[in-house]
Amino acid sequence: MQILDMNMINFRNLDDEHLEFDRRFNLFLGKNGQGKTSVLEAIYFTVTGKSFRTSKNKEMIKYGHHKIGAFVNYEDRVALKSISVKLNEKKKIYSYNRKNIKYDEFLGKLNIISFIPEDIDLIVGAPGVRRSFFDYEIAQADPEYYLYLKSLSKLLKFRNKYLKDRKTKDPIFDIYNSEFIKYASLIVKKRIDYTKNVSRLLSLNYRKLFDGEKELTLCYKTFLGELKTPTLEEIEGKIKKSYEKVKDRELRYGYSLFGPQRDDFIFLLDDKEAKSYSSQGEKKSIIFSLKISEIDMIIKEKKETPIFIIDDMSSYFDSIRKENILKYFQKREIQLFISSTSDLEIEAKRFYIDRGEING
Ligand SMILES: Nc1ncnc2c1ncn2[C@@H]1O[C@H](COP(=O)(O)OP(=O)(O)O)[C@@H](O)[C@H]1O
Ligand SMILES: [Mg+2]
Repeated sequence: MQILDMNMINFRNLDDEHLEFDRRFNLFLGKNGQGKTSVLEAIYFTVTGKSFRTSKNKEMIKYGHHKIGAFVNYEDRVALKSISVKLNEKKKIYSYNRKNIKYDEFLGKLNIISFIPEDIDLIVGAPGVRRSFFDYEIAQADPEYYLYLKSLSKLLKFRNKYLKDRKTKDPIFDIYNSEFIKYASLIVKKRIDYTKNVSRLLSLNYRKLFDGEKELTLCYKTFLGELKTPTLEEIEGKIKKSYEKVKDRELRYGYSLFGPQRDDFIFLLDDKEAKSYSSQGEKKSIIFSLKISEIDMIIKEKKETPIFIIDDMSSYFDSIRKENILKYFQKREIQLFISSTSDLEIEAKRFYIDRGEING
């Protein structure tokens, strides 16, 4: 997939612009604080409906304004298409080929992967950071997974409400409970399959790009402990057992004590947990390997190449890592958007950003 052009209105400090992109490499250059990250964020926002650096949508709206809009024309294997997202202080409106659609339909229309310095949080941050990341990655290639997550989150709320009110004897609680177990099993199964596939790629990519001597693995630590490759029925059986075990305690505490909302993912470098043992440079390389593994996951599921964003290339990687990364992208048919404070040695369309003004 390739984004051909973009229009945006009231996005952070950026002037309202129409930008035309190169089908391969686009480089945004400028000093700090000029709006480089904001341009990449605007692209990411139009494709996903969210930011890669904040969960507070309002922050993206230009100071003194009340709404933003962003629109792109893009091309996939089939045809020329367009999507847009409008955001005001209350809601978001998504459209596809100029018709309004629901988020469920919008999700995954265009696929994008971003790499920003803050992504190091995927290793050092709390489990919730990893769950949200992997959930989005799985969902953008697999719409069914998104529906499972939505159902689970609703059921979890109901379940917690009944537990809080100590109404577990109510027959409705039984229904919520068995539905909760059903969706929990489906989600755990998808997470197991995903981790198995991505872990294989992750290890290969880390070796190819950064360190041929080390073995990188991603472990999925479910709330049930470690599971190898169980069937859906086996997972469901285990979840039912874990429910029986925590049932009484749940009633005492008044909230859910089991379920995929307690899962985690762990990165291991040569069998040692990266969070505690890896150097800063290794952590960056681990995350980068993860992000490029996502490229192959999306190609496999969607038969389309995703768009790739790298923010702050120059200050984030040393020169050897930078060179390896650019070489990697030169070999692949992927549209790339990079920001950097200093110029890079690649053939690219260059945009210069100065106080929110973009010149291509
Ligand atoms: N909602 C907003 N409205 C207007 N300006 C903003 C908004 N949010 C951030 N800014 C400003 O935008 C400028 C550019 O930020 P950023 O894109 O992060 O710069 P860069 O990546 O080039 O260092 C900063 O000076 C920041 O204060
Ligand atoms: Mg920046």
